[in-house]
Amino acid sequence: MRKLSTPSDCGRNDGATPVWRDGERTAISVTSGNSMFLATDGEGYETQMGRWSRRLAPLLINFAGGNPAGRHLDAGCGTGSLTCALAGHPDVERVVGVDVSPDYISYAARLHASPRIEFEVGDITELRFENAAFDGVWSSLVLQFVTDPHRAVAHMCRVTKPGGVVAAATWDTRGGVVAQRMFWDTAAVIDPDAASYRATAFVRPMSRPDGLREAWRAAGLAHVEIESLTIRMEFTSFADFWSSVDSRNGPYAAYLSTREEAMKQAVRRLVRHAYLDGEPDGLRSYAATAWTVKGTVQ
Ligand SMILES: C[S@@+](CC[C@H](N)C(=O)[O-])C[C@H]1O[C@@H](n2cnc3c(N)ncnc32)[C@H](O)[C@@H]1O
Repeated sequence: MRKLSTPSDCGRNDGATPVWRDGERTAISVTSGNSMFLATDGEGYETQMGRWSRRLAPLLINFAGGNPAGRHLDAGCGTGSLTCALAGHPDVERVVGVDVSPDYISYAARLHASPRIEFEVGDITELRFENAAFDGVWSSLVLQFVTDPHRAVAHMCRVTKPGGVVAAATWDTRGGVVAQRMFWDTAAVIDPDAASYRATAFVRPMSRPDGLREAWRAAGLAHVEIESLTIRMEFTSFADFWSSVDSRNGPYAAYLSTREEAMKQAVRRLVRHAYLDGEPDGLRSYAATAWTVKGTVQ
Protein backbone atom coordinates (compact mmCIF):
# COMPACT_ATOMS: atom_id res chain seq x y z
CA MET A 1 0.00 0.00 0.00
CA ARG A 2 1.21 3.49 -0.82
CA LYS A 3 2.79 5.17 2.21
CA LEU A 4 0.98 8.27 3.39
CA SER A 5 3.27 11.23 3.63
CA THR A 6 2.82 14.67 5.09
CA PRO A 7 0.16 16.48 3.07
CA SER A 8 1.43 19.14 0.71
CA ASP A 9 0.20 22.69 1.08
CA CYS A 10 -0.10 23.05 -2.69
CA GLY A 11 -3.11 25.16 -3.59
CA ARG A 12 -4.41 25.09 -0.02
CA ASN A 13 -7.02 27.67 0.85
CA ASP A 14 -8.56 27.23 4.24
CA GLY A 15 -11.10 29.99 3.74
CA ALA A 16 -14.38 29.64 1.90
CA THR A 17 -13.24 31.77 -1.03
CA PRO A 18 -11.93 29.97 -4.09
CA VAL A 19 -8.43 30.84 -5.21
CA TRP A 20 -8.32 31.85 -8.85
CA ARG A 21 -4.97 30.86 -10.22
CA ASP A 22 -3.35 33.42 -12.47
CA GLY A 23 -0.39 32.93 -14.72
CA GLU A 24 -0.76 29.16 -14.86
CA ARG A 25 -1.71 27.13 -17.88
CA THR A 26 -5.35 27.57 -17.05
CA ALA A 27 -6.71 30.75 -15.59
CA ILE A 28 -10.03 29.19 -14.70
CA SER A 29 -8.95 26.45 -12.36
CA VAL A 30 -10.31 26.85 -8.85
CA THR A 31 -8.79 25.32 -5.77
CA SER A 32 -10.37 25.22 -2.34
CA GLY A 33 -8.52 23.07 0.17
CA ASN A 34 -7.62 19.85 -1.67
CA SER A 35 -10.48 20.20 -4.15
CA MET A 36 -10.46 21.70 -7.63
CA PHE A 37 -14.26 21.57 -7.91
CA LEU A 38 -16.34 24.66 -7.24
CA ALA A 39 -19.09 23.35 -4.97
CA THR A 40 -21.30 26.06 -3.54
CA ASP A 41 -24.92 25.20 -4.29
CA GLY A 42 -26.38 21.74 -3.69
CA GLU A 43 -29.62 22.37 -5.55
CA GLY A 44 -27.72 23.70 -8.58
CA TYR A 45 -25.43 20.66 -8.47
CA GLU A 46 -28.46 18.36 -8.60
CA THR A 47 -29.54 20.08 -11.82
CA GLN A 48 -26.06 20.05 -13.24
CA MET A 49 -24.82 16.56 -12.33
CA GLY A 50 -26.70 14.93 -9.45
CA ARG A 51 -29.52 13.87 -11.78
CA TRP A 52 -26.94 12.04 -13.92
CA SER A 53 -24.69 10.67 -11.16
CA ARG A 54 -27.87 9.03 -9.78
CA ARG A 55 -28.10 7.04 -13.03
CA LEU A 56 -24.43 6.08 -12.92
CA ALA A 57 -24.43 4.94 -9.27
CA PRO A 58 -26.23 1.58 -9.70
CA LEU A 59 -24.02 0.74 -12.69
CA LEU A 60 -20.90 1.37 -10.60
CA ILE A 61 -22.26 -0.80 -7.78
CA ASN A 62 -23.00 -3.63 -10.24
CA PHE A 63 -19.54 -3.33 -11.75
CA ALA A 64 -18.02 -3.76 -8.27
CA GLY A 65 -19.94 -6.94 -7.51
CA GLY A 66 -23.51 -5.84 -7.09
CA ASN A 67 -24.16 -7.01 -3.52
CA PRO A 68 -22.61 -4.59 -1.04
CA ALA A 69 -23.02 -5.48 2.63
CA GLY A 70 -21.91 -3.99 5.94
CA ARG A 71 -20.41 -0.50 6.26
CA HIS A 72 -19.50 1.66 3.28
CA LEU A 73 -17.87 4.99 2.60
CA ASP A 74 -18.77 7.31 -0.29
CA ALA A 75 -15.67 9.49 -0.70
CA GLY A 76 -16.56 12.85 -2.25
CA CYS A 77 -20.28 12.14 -1.98
CA GLY A 78 -21.49 15.50 -3.30
CA THR A 79 -25.27 15.60 -2.89
CA GLY A 80 -25.38 11.88 -2.13
CA SER A 81 -26.37 10.03 -5.33
CA LEU A 82 -24.08 7.05 -4.71
CA THR A 83 -24.55 7.16 -0.92
CA CYS A 84 -28.28 6.73 -1.41
CA ALA A 85 -27.88 3.96 -4.01
CA LEU A 86 -25.60 2.02 -1.65
CA ALA A 87 -27.98 2.46 1.29
CA GLY A 88 -30.75 0.96 -0.85
CA HIS A 89 -29.05 -2.44 -0.77
CA PRO A 90 -30.64 -4.67 1.87
CA ASP A 91 -27.40 -5.97 3.40
CA VAL A 92 -25.82 -2.54 3.76
CA GLU A 93 -25.89 -1.46 7.41
CA ARG A 94 -24.45 2.00 7.13
CA VAL A 95 -23.13 4.41 4.51
CA VAL A 96 -21.03 7.42 5.41
CA GLY A 97 -20.84 10.16 2.79
CA VAL A 98 -17.90 12.55 3.08
CA ASP A 99 -17.43 15.70 1.04
CA VAL A 100 -15.33 18.79 1.43
CA SER A 101 -18.27 21.07 0.55
CA PRO A 102 -20.46 22.08 3.55
CA ASP A 103 -23.13 23.29 1.10
CA TYR A 104 -23.38 19.90 -0.58
CA ILE A 105 -23.32 18.02 2.72
CA SER A 106 -26.17 20.01 4.23
CA TYR A 107 -28.18 19.64 1.01
CA ALA A 108 -27.47 15.87 0.90
CA ALA A 109 -28.54 15.45 4.53
CA ARG A 110 -31.89 17.08 3.75
CA LEU A 111 -32.34 15.11 0.51
CA HIS A 112 -31.48 11.65 1.86
CA ALA A 113 -32.63 11.46 5.47
CA SER A 114 -32.21 7.82 6.54
CA PRO A 115 -31.06 6.09 9.72
CA ARG A 116 -28.59 4.12 7.58
CA ILE A 117 -26.91 7.21 6.13
CA GLU A 118 -24.55 9.72 7.71
CA PHE A 119 -23.06 12.72 5.96
CA GLU A 120 -20.10 14.72 7.13
CA VAL A 121 -17.77 17.40 5.88
CA GLY A 122 -14.28 16.06 5.31
CA ASP A 123 -11.33 15.88 2.97
CA ILE A 124 -10.77 12.50 1.35
CA THR A 125 -7.02 13.08 1.32
CA GLU A 126 -7.20 13.30 5.13
CA LEU A 127 -9.83 10.71 6.07
CA ARG A 128 -10.36 10.65 9.84
CA PHE A 129 -11.54 7.02 10.04
CA GLU A 130 -9.56 4.18 11.57
CA ASN A 131 -7.84 1.58 9.43
CA ALA A 132 -10.20 -1.08 8.04
CA ALA A 133 -13.32 0.77 9.23
CA PHE A 134 -15.38 -0.07 6.10
CA ASP A 135 -16.32 -3.13 4.05
CA GLY A 136 -16.17 -1.14 0.84
CA VAL A 137 -15.10 2.35 -0.24
CA TRP A 138 -16.42 4.20 -3.27
CA SER A 139 -15.90 7.38 -5.17
CA SER A 140 -17.92 8.68 -8.10
CA LEU A 141 -16.83 11.55 -10.39
CA VAL A 142 -14.40 12.89 -7.80
CA LEU A 143 -10.79 11.84 -8.25
CA GLN A 144 -10.12 14.07 -11.26
CA PHE A 145 -10.95 17.05 -9.04
CA VAL A 146 -8.70 16.13 -6.10
CA THR A 147 -5.36 17.92 -5.96
CA ASP A 148 -3.56 14.76 -4.79
CA PRO A 149 -5.64 11.81 -6.02
CA HIS A 150 -2.98 9.22 -5.13
CA ARG A 151 -3.15 10.33 -1.53
CA ALA A 152 -6.97 10.07 -1.63
CA VAL A 153 -6.79 6.52 -3.03
CA ALA A 154 -4.24 5.55 -0.36
CA HIS A 155 -6.64 6.78 2.34
CA MET A 156 -9.57 4.99 0.68
CA CYS A 157 -7.54 1.75 0.82
CA ARG A 158 -6.38 2.32 4.38
CA VAL A 159 -9.96 2.58 5.70
CA THR A 160 -11.14 -0.54 3.81
CA LYS A 161 -11.01 -4.00 5.41
CA PRO A 162 -8.76 -6.65 3.81
CA GLY A 163 -10.82 -8.35 1.12
CA GLY A 164 -12.99 -5.25 0.65
CA VAL A 165 -13.38 -3.50 -2.69
CA VAL A 166 -12.30 0.05 -3.50
CA ALA A 167 -14.16 1.26 -6.60
CA ALA A 168 -14.43 4.54 -8.47
CA ALA A 169 -15.87 6.14 -11.56
CA THR A 170 -14.69 9.26 -13.39
CA TRP A 171 -16.08 10.75 -16.57
CA ASP A 172 -14.19 9.93 -19.75
CA THR A 173 -13.92 13.65 -20.43
CA ARG A 174 -11.86 13.28 -23.58
CA GLY A 175 -13.89 10.67 -25.41
CA GLY A 176 -17.10 9.97 -23.56
CA VAL A 177 -19.23 12.91 -22.51
CA VAL A 178 -21.00 14.49 -25.47
CA ALA A 179 -22.63 17.37 -23.56
CA GLN A 180 -19.34 18.53 -22.05
CA ARG A 181 -17.55 18.21 -25.41
CA MET A 182 -20.26 20.30 -27.05
CA PHE A 183 -19.79 23.09 -24.53
CA TRP A 184 -15.98 23.18 -24.29
CA ASP A 185 -15.25 22.58 -27.98
CA THR A 186 -17.62 25.38 -28.92
CA ALA A 187 -16.28 27.83 -26.31
CA ALA A 188 -12.69 26.97 -27.24
CA VAL A 189 -13.21 28.24 -30.79
CA ILE A 190 -13.74 31.80 -29.58
CA ASP A 191 -12.01 31.87 -26.19
CA PRO A 192 -8.41 30.77 -25.55
CA ASP A 193 -9.17 30.35 -21.83
CA ALA A 194 -11.73 27.67 -22.70
CA ALA A 195 -9.14 26.00 -24.93
CA SER A 196 -6.63 26.07 -22.05
CA TYR A 197 -9.13 24.60 -19.67
CA ARG A 198 -9.90 21.81 -22.14
CA ALA A 199 -6.20 21.12 -22.63
CA THR A 200 -5.77 20.75 -18.87
CA ALA A 201 -8.93 19.07 -17.66
CA PHE A 202 -9.49 16.64 -20.52
CA VAL A 203 -6.13 14.96 -20.03
CA ARG A 204 -6.03 14.52 -16.26
CA PRO A 205 -4.74 11.02 -15.41
CA MET A 206 -7.79 10.29 -13.24
CA SER A 207 -10.03 10.71 -16.32
CA ARG A 208 -8.08 8.06 -18.18
CA PRO A 209 -7.96 4.28 -17.78
CA ASP A 210 -4.17 4.07 -17.60
CA GLY A 211 -4.08 6.74 -14.87
CA LEU A 212 -6.75 4.98 -12.83
CA ARG A 213 -5.08 1.59 -13.22
CA GLU A 214 -1.75 3.06 -12.13
CA ALA A 215 -3.31 4.72 -9.05
CA TRP A 216 -5.04 1.49 -8.00
CA ARG A 217 -1.84 -0.53 -8.46
CA ALA A 218 0.31 2.08 -6.67
CA ALA A 219 -2.06 1.84 -3.70
CA GLY A 220 -1.37 -1.91 -3.53
CA LEU A 221 -4.81 -3.05 -4.63
CA ALA A 222 -5.14 -6.52 -6.12
CA HIS A 223 -7.33 -7.80 -8.98
CA VAL A 224 -7.52 -4.36 -10.55
CA GLU A 225 -10.12 -4.11 -13.32
CA ILE A 226 -11.18 -1.25 -15.56
CA GLU A 227 -14.38 -0.93 -17.54
CA SER A 228 -16.40 1.83 -19.17
CA LEU A 229 -20.07 2.41 -18.41
CA THR A 230 -22.50 4.60 -20.33
CA ILE A 231 -25.62 6.46 -19.27
CA ARG A 232 -27.71 9.00 -21.21
CA MET A 233 -28.13 12.64 -20.24
CA GLU A 234 -31.51 13.91 -21.42
CA PHE A 235 -32.35 17.60 -21.64
CA THR A 236 -35.90 18.77 -22.28
CA SER A 237 -34.77 21.95 -24.10
CA PHE A 238 -31.78 24.22 -24.55
CA ALA A 239 -32.97 26.20 -21.51
CA ASP A 240 -32.76 22.99 -19.47
CA PHE A 241 -29.27 22.31 -20.80
CA TRP A 242 -28.11 25.87 -20.14
CA SER A 243 -29.53 25.87 -16.61
CA SER A 244 -27.26 22.93 -15.84
CA VAL A 245 -24.26 24.85 -17.21
CA ASP A 246 -24.90 28.33 -15.87
CA SER A 247 -24.89 27.63 -12.14
CA ARG A 248 -22.52 28.06 -9.21
CA ASN A 249 -20.94 24.62 -9.55
CA GLY A 250 -18.09 22.86 -11.22
CA PRO A 251 -15.86 23.82 -14.14
CA TYR A 252 -18.67 25.47 -16.13
CA ALA A 253 -19.25 27.96 -13.30
CA ALA A 254 -15.54 28.48 -12.73
CA TYR A 255 -15.33 29.45 -16.39
CA LEU A 256 -18.56 31.36 -17.05
CA SER A 257 -18.48 33.39 -13.85
CA THR A 258 -15.15 34.88 -14.89
CA ARG A 259 -16.20 35.88 -18.42
CA GLU A 260 -17.21 39.34 -19.58
CA GLU A 261 -20.97 39.37 -20.27
CA ALA A 262 -20.36 39.72 -24.03
CA MET A 263 -18.18 36.60 -24.11
CA LYS A 264 -20.65 34.68 -21.99
CA GLN A 265 -23.50 35.58 -24.36
CA ALA A 266 -21.39 34.68 -27.41
CA VAL A 267 -20.60 31.26 -25.92
CA ARG A 268 -24.27 30.75 -25.08
CA ARG A 269 -25.35 31.63 -28.63
CA LEU A 270 -22.88 29.22 -30.25
CA VAL A 271 -23.60 26.42 -27.81
CA ARG A 272 -27.30 26.88 -28.55
CA HIS A 273 -26.56 26.34 -32.26
CA ALA A 274 -24.71 23.17 -31.41
CA TYR A 275 -27.57 22.00 -29.19
CA LEU A 276 -30.20 22.63 -31.87
CA ASP A 277 -28.35 20.95 -34.77
CA GLY A 278 -30.62 22.93 -37.11
CA GLU A 279 -33.80 21.41 -35.65
CA PRO A 280 -36.46 23.02 -33.43
CA ASP A 281 -35.66 23.30 -29.75
CA GLY A 282 -36.67 20.30 -27.65
CA LEU A 283 -35.48 17.06 -26.16
CA ARG A 284 -31.89 15.96 -26.73
CA SER A 285 -30.26 12.80 -25.39
CA TYR A 286 -26.48 12.64 -25.09
CA ALA A 287 -24.36 9.64 -24.21
CA ALA A 288 -22.06 9.99 -21.20
CA THR A 289 -19.40 7.38 -20.54
CA ALA A 290 -17.41 6.94 -17.35
CA TRP A 291 -14.29 4.94 -16.71
CA THR A 292 -14.69 2.67 -13.72
CA VAL A 293 -11.98 0.96 -11.70
CA LYS A 294 -12.08 -1.57 -8.88
CA GLY A 295 -9.53 -3.44 -6.81
CA THR A 296 -9.36 -5.55 -3.66
CA VAL A 297 -7.55 -4.60 -0.48
CA GLN A 298 -4.98 -7.27 0.48
C1 LIG B 1 -18.46 16.09 -9.67
S1 LIG B 1 -18.75 16.11 -7.96
C2 LIG B 1 -19.23 14.40 -7.64
C3 LIG B 1 -20.16 14.29 -6.46
C4 LIG B 1 -20.83 12.94 -6.26
N1 LIG B 1 -19.88 11.91 -5.97
C5 LIG B 1 -21.68 12.56 -7.44
O1 LIG B 1 -21.42 11.49 -8.02
O2 LIG B 1 -22.59 13.30 -7.79
C6 LIG B 1 -17.13 16.18 -7.28
C7 LIG B 1 -17.17 16.24 -5.76
O3 LIG B 1 -15.87 16.01 -5.23
C8 LIG B 1 -15.75 16.77 -4.05
N2 LIG B 1 -14.33 16.85 -3.70
C9 LIG B 1 -13.32 17.27 -4.48
N3 LIG B 1 -12.15 17.18 -3.81
C10 LIG B 1 -12.43 16.66 -2.58
C11 LIG B 1 -11.64 16.32 -1.44
N4 LIG B 1 -10.32 16.51 -1.43
N5 LIG B 1 -12.27 15.80 -0.36
C12 LIG B 1 -13.62 15.62 -0.37
N6 LIG B 1 -14.42 15.93 -1.42
C13 LIG B 1 -13.83 16.44 -2.51
C14 LIG B 1 -16.41 18.08 -4.43
O4 LIG B 1 -16.75 18.88 -3.32
C15 LIG B 1 -17.63 17.59 -5.19
O5 LIG B 1 -18.73 17.36 -4.35
